[in-house]
Amino acid sequence: SPVQTVALQEVVLAQPRGFCAGVDRAIEIVERALTRFGAPIYVRHEIVHNTYVVADLKAKGAIFIEDLADVPAGATLVFSAHGVSQAVRQEAAQRGFQIFDATCPLVTKVHVEVAKLRREGYEFIMIGHKGHPEVEGTMGQLDDGIYLVEDVEDVARVQVRQPERLAVVTQTTLSVDDASSILAAVKARFPLVREPKKQDICYATQNRQDAVKLMTSEVDVLIVVGSPTSSNSNRLREVAERRETAAYMVDNASELKAEWFEGRQRVGLTAGASAPELLVQQVIERLRALGATSVRTMPGVEETIEFPLPLGLGDRSMAEA
Ligand code: F3S
Repeated sequence: SPVQTVALQEVVLAQPRGFCAGVDRAIEIVERALTRFGAPIYVRHEIVHNTYVVADLKAKGAIFIEDLADVPAGATLVFSAHGVSQAVRQEAAQRGFQIFDATCPLVTKVHVEVAKLRREGYEFIMIGHKGHPEVEGTMGQLDDGIYLVEDVEDVARVQVRQPERLAVVTQTTLSVDDASSILAAVKARFPLVREPKKQDICYATQNRQDAVKLMTSEVDVLIVVGSPTSSNSNRLREVAERRETAAYMVDNASELKAEWFEGRQRVGLTAGASAPELLVQQVIERLRALGATSVRTMPGVEETIEFPLPLGLGDRSMAEA
């Protein structure tokens, strides 16, 4: 084998990367609830799928639960950014909690669309990953008539009752490319299917995947900062792998392995929508220790979208003014 004389030199940062507006808002909701009402604040499911964020909020007094039976009467409860089913929403209301809903507005938009089309008599095919809380929340907007497909094979198997009045919805954090081939299969099998006016995959998912595609030709290896449970982070790693760029996902800098960079000059770096920039900066420090001498950021989309906070937690822009 050839002698490896190439050493790590450059870090190339994806733009955009890291927090999306929905994650930013969800974390802000828990922090504001803690400030306003004091600890503990209960949160149903990880507020966002990131180990660091969850540990940080736990340290500040948040308690993460999956089962509402574990929340004491009179408590304040936050729903995670992934959204909840109608059954969870109703149970929480019956138990009388003070509720703040951190469901991303772009997930809520999908829920609203499902409810509206159901009233018009539609059944649904949902494209998504089984067991992901967003999928449970969206599927759980209805008692029946919504069928999950995870891949093209599922499309061939799915049994619907009314192919002539059928609509498609998707998880917001899918692979853009996978979703489009699965959608093509749905349309081939159910020609009358109704598609979302604008795709359900959110701007943040789209932009982060596009940014990785743009950089794969310029880097020898890609590092994605994200937690194993984070759907959109996993998709970023896959986008690079499909373009034959080696890619690794790490929860934090301590997981980086020196051998990943042997014989590689340029390392691309991005972060999933739930991963804090602090963790990216720590990865950069570690890459410098491994020999990287320069850091540059790719050109890319600048995101300015910001979602308002729920009533009762104050207005962000006024609080910051
Ligand atoms: Fe919302 Fe997309 Fe982020 S759905 S939480 S903006 S990844």
